[in-house]
Amino acid sequence: MDISSFLQKEELHKEDVIFLLGRTAPDELEQLYRAAYETKKEWVGNVDYYRGLLEFSNRCIKNCNYCGIRRDNGEVERFDTPREDILTMARWCYEQQYGSVTLQSGERQDEAFIDFVEGLLRDIKSIGNGALGITLCVGEQTKETYQRWYNAGAHRYLLRIESSNPKLYATLHPQDGHHNWNVRKTCLDSLAEIGYQVGTGVMIGLPGQTLEDLAEDILFYKKQNIAMIGMGPYVVHHNTPLGKKVCEAGLDTAEARAERLRLSINMVAVTRLFLKDVNIAATTAMQTLHPLGREMALKAGANILMPLVTLPQFRSQYQLYDNKPCLEDGQEQCRNCLSARVASVGDTVGWGQWGDSPHFFNNLK
Ligand code: 5AD
Ligand code: SF4
Repeated sequence: MDISSFLQKEELHKEDVIFLLGRTAPDELEQLYRAAYETKKEWVGNVDYYRGLLEFSNRCIKNCNYCGIRRDNGEVERFDTPREDILTMARWCYEQQYGSVTLQSGERQDEAFIDFVEGLLRDIKSIGNGALGITLCVGEQTKETYQRWYNAGAHRYLLRIESSNPKLYATLHPQDGHHNWNVRKTCLDSLAEIGYQVGTGVMIGLPGQTLEDLAEDILFYKKQNIAMIGMGPYVVHHNTPLGKKVCEAGLDTAEARAERLRLSINMVAVTRLFLKDVNIAATTAMQTLHPLGREMALKAGANILMPLVTLPQFRSQYQLYDNKPCLEDGQEQCRNCLSARVASVGDTVGWGQWGDSPHFFNNLK
């Protein structure tokens, strides 16, 4: 069957999703991305929103097999950004009219960390009298902790499920009792119960991952009623168990990377067609695999960008994967560079707006 007949369907089913995800021919991809961009324009507009990304600490108690800041990576120098510096950066985001900030770090569950984040949220909330939207991305926590942070001013939370397939998830994490798919799923449920706008996502192009797994990921977003999606290609980090395995098996070729990028853009497009009114990020990992990776994502239905505002002296220590772009750039350069990218695809920037996912509110009606 011709791709256009799939794109005209009122409702997509799992087999349709698998079919669309697997497209590779340039003319088919063009049709797929065009349809997804039209859906974006219709449901969320061709306005892209910024979340200034503050990677404030790379300390992590977890040991995910793919991640460059995993606990056992002794090559990484650990850092904590001083509170005043984080606030200065948040103020800068406010002055630049970014609308929202995302606070990201490795995972810690100790009381000192919980208190620190709680105080930080209150301080950021006081900037411009609550002007900045705040997304938190600091891993698995108890429901009580999530509630404290919600009360302190966070209203969105990003926690990637990494894969909706528990068996695949198990191959990506140590089997030590601390990396459990069910715990992560319970966290997503708790966040929704508290009232957060919940974001999740997966890595794409993982060893052993099938098109069916990816289709199930999109169905998982729907089942969990997810409002925000942050996903991107798996990118090798040289000093991780998974990165070493992939390189030794000769699976990190230029072709393999191009394939992971194409699959990632296809995931963005099909997720837009399937879920319509959610927020979808054009993630930095996409740009790692292609200089125009983020533009491709915007053209295929993504509507969120996360300009780096991490202090330049810490950027090289926050490398979840190799060849992360923008390491040498200051926050000014990231701002100007991303604005040019948005304009180049024909979109505008939603300056000074929170840019919440319409899905969250449509759902409350
Ligand atoms: N490649 C791509 N994404 C990665 N992440 C961590 N390591 C990698 C990698 N090597 C992603 C995970 C995590 C998020 C913070 O970064 O999906 O949830
Ligand atoms: Fe820690 Fe997150 Fe990296 Fe896992 S993916 S090691 S939890 S920073």
